[in-house]
Amino acid sequence: MSARMRLTSVETVHEDGSWLFTVRDRHGELEEVLLVPCEDGVEAWINRCTHEAQRLDTGCGAAMRDGQIICPRHGSMFDSCSGYCDNGDAAETTLPDVEIAVDDATVYLTDDDLSYLHDGGIEESDRDDDSGPSSTSHISF
Ligand code: FES
Repeated sequence: MSARMRLTSVETVHEDGSWLFTVRDRHGELEEVLLVPCEDGVEAWINRCTHEAQRLDTGCGAAMRDGQIICPRHGSMFDSCSGYCDNGDAAETTLPDVEIAVDDATVYLTDDDLSYLHDGGIEESDRDDDSGPSSTSHISF
């Protein structure tokens, strides 16, 4: 994939505090990606705690404090710029990062391993392809 995908503006991420979107990886698995403010720019992390499979943004925006993303389950805090956690149950781990680029105050997905699906979190309709008989759709990628 050589095309880059426009996501949103840096201003929107800073105003909203975080910004969630859904991708499909090269194995066909769905993932959520979280954009968060980092100083004047933006960073992108997989929306899942490194301790347990807990979404950091559960659909209403990630809890943030002092430049840190707070895990809603056990409260570990991840640096929004480095993804690193030095506290609590997730201590000494780093969130998996996602490649993005900022150009003219606009954020683009540039990660060759990921295909953009839509803004927001994973929806039931995203799973139609692998969830069997719940849908009459047989679209394949
Ligand atoms: S699930 Fe995030 S700290 Fe335990």
